[in-house]
Amino acid sequence: MDHVFHRNSKSAYPIAATGEGPYLIDAAGKRYLDGSSGAAVSCLGHSDRDVIEAIKRQLERLPYAHTSFFSTEPMEALADELIARAPAGMQRVYFVSGGSEAIEAALKLARQYFVEIGQDQRRYVIGRRQSYHGNTLGALAVGGNMWRRQQFQPLLVDVAHVAPCYEYRERNSDETVEGYGRRLANELEAEIQRLGPESVIAFVAETVVGATLGAVPPVPEYFRLVREVCDRHGVLLILDEVMCGMGRTGSLYACEQEGIVPDMVCIAKGLGAGYQPIGATLVQGRIHDAIQRGSGFFQHGHTYIGHAVACAAALAVQRTFVERGLVERVRSLGVGLEARLRERLGSHPHVGDIRGRGFFWGVEFVAERATKATFDPALKINARVKAEALQLGLLCYPMGGTVDGVRGDHVLIAPPYIVTEAQLDELTDKLGRAVEATFSS
Ligand SMILES: Cc1ncc(COP(=O)(O)O)c(C=O)c1O
Repeated sequence: MDHVFHRNSKSAYPIAATGEGPYLIDAAGKRYLDGSSGAAVSCLGHSDRDVIEAIKRQLERLPYAHTSFFSTEPMEALADELIARAPAGMQRVYFVSGGSEAIEAALKLARQYFVEIGQDQRRYVIGRRQSYHGNTLGALAVGGNMWRRQQFQPLLVDVAHVAPCYEYRERNSDETVEGYGRRLANELEAEIQRLGPESVIAFVAETVVGATLGAVPPVPEYFRLVREVCDRHGVLLILDEVMCGMGRTGSLYACEQEGIVPDMVCIAKGLGAGYQPIGATLVQGRIHDAIQRGSGFFQHGHTYIGHAVACAAALAVQRTFVERGLVERVRSLGVGLEARLRERLGSHPHVGDIRGRGFFWGVEFVAERATKATFDPALKINARVKAEALQLGLLCYPMGGTVDGVRGDHVLIAPPYIVTEAQLDELTDKLGRAVEATFSS
């Protein structure tokens, strides 16, 4: 009898037994090309020797020391490494164990920052519809995916939500791209005005929306306008780069391509690349300074923050990115991945949109291209594509509710940064066959 409380208790999961580069191999010996790096996690594939050796070395030296007593060498070195390449002005790194924790830390730190600087009337956070920031209660409250929130609503703090930047469906036909971005920034500003500009703490957004929308990049200028709105009202801009950060879009931080700098940025998946559970919240120097000058104590913390082995693993991952030029590789091979996806799937009658950046792509399915009509959610189109792909030995990350939390289907493609061109061919070929099989059955 199976005693694991699995994610889905109606599903049977194969046992993942070993990893070999971008492939996972199950206990029966079947090989799966990891076309989504799990959930955009395993950027270095599943058997990177340098990272494994770094973990072993740290385990031999020191597995763990509680952060209320000590700092550790790998934590200090990882913070240095991250700050050296972080968006301008980032000076401190708060380490946690995953993406949700990174968001929780950012939310609490944002509130405490204002308390420390004498603006304790600030109490509201604004998020965006159709965003995902994690499953802990604070992160879930900021997230805007209705299906995920619904049954937990009574437990969630009150967060305002504005529109996502989702050009494929939400830019009006008579609107320019610039006009669309401006309309969204205006909506944010109106929401800040409605809540009272002196009472808003932060605006939280994924730079490129991952799981819930399917790799949707912002339109040009959107984030520059958002930055201006936040600055006008002293509102902090917290970017969630848990999924889209650490090279996934072809730059180490996705916001580099927007030409803006956030007040805090949350990272996780590509930080440890799945070799250890780790996340982090990077903060502007002035935020840390306010705490240092004030109470001196960020009233937060978990037992495993800054775990020595997790930090050693992430340090090895980040150094590997640099030594092997992997972010540049994502940028250049990403062009070919896009071309392959468009060629293989672009004219399929049920593929409505292909969007993304670097090694981060979403394929959105529609019942009819002209009207962008969605499929009946009961058909579970996205789950069927996943199942067909699995049969063929390909992992892609499916999601339903793309449009409004209920309607819409997409799959996410996010291969490890180490894949070869031949493996990108394999990925697109298997995805194409999975899509064809889904719609022919
Ligand atoms: C954008 C984003 N933020 C936060 C999270 C939560 O991260 P975790 O599952 O590590 O708690 C995720 C996870 O998918 C995510 O994609």
